[in-house]
Amino acid sequence: MRAVRVAARANIALIKYWGKADAAHNVPAVGSLSLTLHGLETETTVEPLDGGRRLFELDGKPMAQDEAARIQALADRLDVDRRVGFAFRSANRFPTAAGLASSASGGAAAVVALALAAGRDLDRAGYVGESLRVSGSAPRSLVGGFARLDPTSDGAVMRELAAPGLGGLRVLVAQARAGRKDVGSRDAMATSLDSPYFRPWVDSHRADLETAEAALRAGDWPALWSVMEYSTLKMHALPLTSRPPVWYWTPTTLAILEAVRSARAEGLTGGFTMDAGPHVKLFCLADETAAWRTRLAAVPGVLGVLEAAAGAAPQVEIDGRSVSWSLPIA
Ligand code: PMV
Repeated sequence: MRAVRVAARANIALIKYWGKADAAHNVPAVGSLSLTLHGLETETTVEPLDGGRRLFELDGKPMAQDEAARIQALADRLDVDRRVGFAFRSANRFPTAAGLASSASGGAAAVVALALAAGRDLDRAGYVGESLRVSGSAPRSLVGGFARLDPTSDGAVMRELAAPGLGGLRVLVAQARAGRKDVGSRDAMATSLDSPYFRPWVDSHRADLETAEAALRAGDWPALWSVMEYSTLKMHALPLTSRPPVWYWTPTTLAILEAVRSARAEGLTGGFTMDAGPHVKLFCLADETAAWRTRLAAVPGVLGVLEAAAGAAPQVEIDGRSVSWSLPIA
């Protein structure tokens, strides 16, 4: 085992994934299109330990058993001998007001760190497949900028998407509530399969991906915001129409959406999305960020507004030395 440190960044889906085609292998029912963000990251280290001992820590505390079991299973799939000891430590460096899931950055960091520590030369499919097993959104944190993930019969394939003007893009996260969500995405996705809207969601999803990709290529931000909001609201309709129903929004979420609508009526440009939680992520351009931030921060109930730009692929150190790592082309 080598000592490895990996910092992987969070990503936000503009075209959402929701639902699994194969829960056992975590194969998504639909594709997704995301942006990796700067400054919101999970740092994971793997270090050799004597005597075959294994240690799993998250944010400085022992990991929950099911989480540690997932890392053990990953080590098994990477053919790490059960007698080999190591310490696996993961810490989320997310600003307090982030209100963002760390499953994507955490999953990507875990796979890259363990694979490199074990000296496994994974190919692109290996990295994408292993990250996908940890979390449906994790493969997208293996790359910087925009990424598109498309399901296959037993996993997914991923492509980086070039976007003119990427550097001028900003994401503001308006935090609508403190604390953890009540229902995790895994559980809510499982019940969503019985929503009467699930089939139409799957059937109409590819068109959204194509529309978003074309908008990115053309640098047409308003078209991108529009399809992002459409995908977001369709996604939230699924848990809402499941039994038992789940809604992730709070009154503050709705108040933020109202504020976005009025700001746009007054000439600001930007688009919103929400994940499996109440926080609103607002995509806009750098020159309007200050105006948007003022608007969002003024909404009653908003606890904080965080700003992020597009982020890069994971950063890697091996045996204390910084190395350049990128997802293999094939
Ligand atoms: O990666 P998971 O299994 O936590 O699911 C993420 C689901 C959404 O964030 C709501 C959408 C997405 O594509 O990221």
